[in-house]
Amino acid sequence: MRRAGADDATGDDAGADDARAEVASPDHPGEVGVGPWPGGPEAWPDDPRYDPELLRDGDRRNVVDRYRYWTVEAIVADIDTRRHPLHVAIENFAHDMNIGSVVRTANAFAVAEVHIVGRRRWNRRGAMVTDRYQHLRHHGDVAALLAWAAERGLPVLGIDNVPGSVPIEGRELPREALMVFGSESTGLSAEARAGCETILHISQHGSTRSINAGAAAAVAMHAWMLQHSRPTDAAGNPL
Ligand SMILES: C[S@@+](CC[C@H](N)C(=O)[O-])C[C@H]1O[C@@H](n2cnc3c(N)ncnc32)[C@H](O)[C@@H]1O
Repeated sequence: MRRAGADDATGDDAGADDARAEVASPDHPGEVGVGPWPGGPEAWPDDPRYDPELLRDGDRRNVVDRYRYWTVEAIVADIDTRRHPLHVAIENFAHDMNIGSVVRTANAFAVAEVHIVGRRRWNRRGAMVTDRYQHLRHHGDVAALLAWAAERGLPVLGIDNVPGSVPIEGRELPREALMVFGSESTGLSAEARAGCETILHISQHGSTRSINAGAAAAVAMHAWMLQHSRPTDAAGNPL
């Protein structure tokens, strides 16, 4: 299991966007985070989870407050103690802009892993650096993803509105599961559809044929969260 940045699934649109995302939230530009730890180095906490550079310079990252000044490794290790047994996969055949959004939502919900299927490099715009804190795994094709799931006995749930799909609303979702989302342009590939135990759709009531893949992934992951996770307060602390 690797995080992005390792060579398993490589983001390719970081650069300046990455830097900006770490210093400002879209909601409160310029107001995010905390300054240097008050009192100087003598007052620094004696805890290996704290990052001396952040203690010295301040922490302007887009992380929840309880992780202020923590190293990336310490944050990932803490999330690892309570990740959910939900895996999500997205087919990456067209450099889909939605993949970053899927990764960000997966991070927010502490899913086990995000699986990128097809092209190794994926469009990080929209991830807002959340991929640093999220385990990612690359599979060269759908067959490799399905083999990985089969080895672990994970049921594969396709998420798409296609002939034969059934509504996700009111559906009991397995606690350990792999959800698979299709590319924005083409939807779930025939190979992925054939490998799914069930294909679930999000019911729609308007004129558009579909919602975008990032939005669909958020709705589907949240449907799982409603059944299998504990509510939190606004800062992510369990209630
Ligand atoms: C833009 S859709 C394209 C495919 C869609 N079946 C169509 O007929 O246009 C791209 C991806 O978003 C997700 N998606 C979009 N709308 C959805 C819905 N109503 N229910 C489930 N998934 C949806 C699916 O994963 C789909 O593969």
